[in-house]
Amino acid sequence: MALARLSTFAFAGIEALPVEVQVQIAPGLPAFLVVGLADKAVAESRERVRAALTGLGLALPAKRILVNLAPADLAKEGSHYDLPIALALLAAMEVIPREVLAEYAALGELSLDGALLPVAGVLPAALGASARGLGLICPAAQGGEAAWAGRGEVLAPPDLPALLNHFRGSQVLRPPEPPPLLAEPWRGPCLSEVKGQESAKRALEIAAAGGHNLLMLGPPGAGKSMLAARLPGLLPDLTPAEALELSLIHSVAGLLREGRLLTRPPFREPHHSASQAALIGGGPRGRPGEISLAHHGVLFLDEWPEFPRPALEALRQPMESGRAVIARANAHVTYPARFQCVAAMNPCRCGFLGDPARECSRAPRCGEEYLDRLSGPLLDRMDLTIEVQPVPPAELSRAPAGESTAAVAARVRAARERQRARYGPEGPRCNAAAEGAVLEATLALEPAARALLEQAAERLGLSARGHTRTLRVARSIADLAGSETVARAHVAEALAYRGRRGLRRAA
Ligand SMILES: Nc1ncnc2c1ncn2[C@@H]1O[C@H](COP(=O)(O)OP(=O)(O)OP(=O)(O)O)[C@@H](O)[C@H]1O
Ligand SMILES: [Mg+2]
Repeated sequence: MALARLSTFAFAGIEALPVEVQVQIAPGLPAFLVVGLADKAVAESRERVRAALTGLGLALPAKRILVNLAPADLAKEGSHYDLPIALALLAAMEVIPREVLAEYAALGELSLDGALLPVAGVLPAALGASARGLGLICPAAQGGEAAWAGRGEVLAPPDLPALLNHFRGSQVLRPPEPPPLLAEPWRGPCLSEVKGQESAKRALEIAAAGGHNLLMLGPPGAGKSMLAARLPGLLPDLTPAEALELSLIHSVAGLLREGRLLTRPPFREPHHSASQAALIGGGPRGRPGEISLAHHGVLFLDEWPEFPRPALEALRQPMESGRAVIARANAHVTYPARFQCVAAMNPCRCGFLGDPARECSRAPRCGEEYLDRLSGPLLDRMDLTIEVQPVPPAELSRAPAGESTAAVAARVRAARERQRARYGPEGPRCNAAAEGAVLEATLALEPAARALLEQAAERLGLSARGHTRTLRVARSIADLAGSETVARAHVAEALAYRGRRGLRRAA
């Protein structure tokens, strides 16, 4: 009786949980069984492994082959078990020495000709392997990703024969190069292409400076989507730790390409037909949703009220906590989701409410009905609300080119540096993430500013959340101005963006 084992991983959120693949070849009726809470993709891996071995010129022994994925009570999902099953089987068949496999963890999907196909989760697996003092065997296309994260040896063969040749010593695999973590310059659209709209651009700059949520209301064609698409260009590069965290999420979602890590804040714009699972995460595999893919970046919800109501309401909790918790059949999975929400909407269904020449006969009731699709708590989470009015065509051609993305991004970077200096490396990463106690301790609110806020809170009926969010925005405005303290003028500007008051702002 022959028994061989090899480490691999199952994924819970961005965490890699160790799984041991055990293969036993025992006398008995010929059979090939996989046990250990395997889903359909894992069960089907038998056929791919069998075909890949045939491609190597090896037949399965005519004995009872039992594959156990331990621990047996942890659900195993996905196609990445192909490679560890094939390798443990080859060790049990004594094609490769068993002791070699003790030094590695492996993951990868096999195609019928023995080629290794990319799988989700190589980045967390590489971290998990190095934490356990193991090397990692993964598909060639993902070697860079693994080399970047792992401290151990990485083998990234294009196919099974190349790996066997490496173990035999007849053809040594070159270690993959980690991709350079160089931030690329912004190549997206430039802010200078937006003519006029000075106050909307100001709001965009404040939102970028502190990572605040922004709601833009305006008629069709006013430039809301255009402005939103220029926000990621204003945001500073990710730090290495942020880049790793974001890349882990994208790796688990199977979205990292060519072993490259993400170094720029993401910009995700799910369509309004997106389901709750697509937005928040979940589905059969418990995959991360758009809010997690937008971690450390921007989630743009265009035509906001058109999103399904349950999906919108499900945003509320992650918008406060910065985490997406997904309930699964047997466990909860948590993904980081510290995103900046930018929403755009028309003021009503036809879009022309407030334009006497074009508004429909149902105005102003239609506007109220349209806004009513969004719950109060959701609107309360939007730090800055602005109205974007179209720039008249005559002015479009006459308006001088405004500031470039690079110029505004430099001010945003300076404001972020002030925040980093204030909060320290362990603290919140921007004003929007500063919680009550930290915010209070570091705010430096001038007495006149405090008096104004207290007055306004009463007059506007600000919620406790509205109060805190206004303070955060005021702090960002002060940071942009290079001011140590938050002055009355900073609070006044922040208040002007608050809730429905903001709806007259950019007009
Ligand atoms: N201020 C502006 N400067 C330059 N071009 C503009 C401006 N405003 C609008 N445009 C032009 O109008 C087009 C439509 O703008 P955009 O798609 O951003 O509108 P929108 O407010 O998102 O409309 P909708 O509500 O229909 O989605 C832009 O692609 C751009 O060509
Ligand atoms: Mg639009």
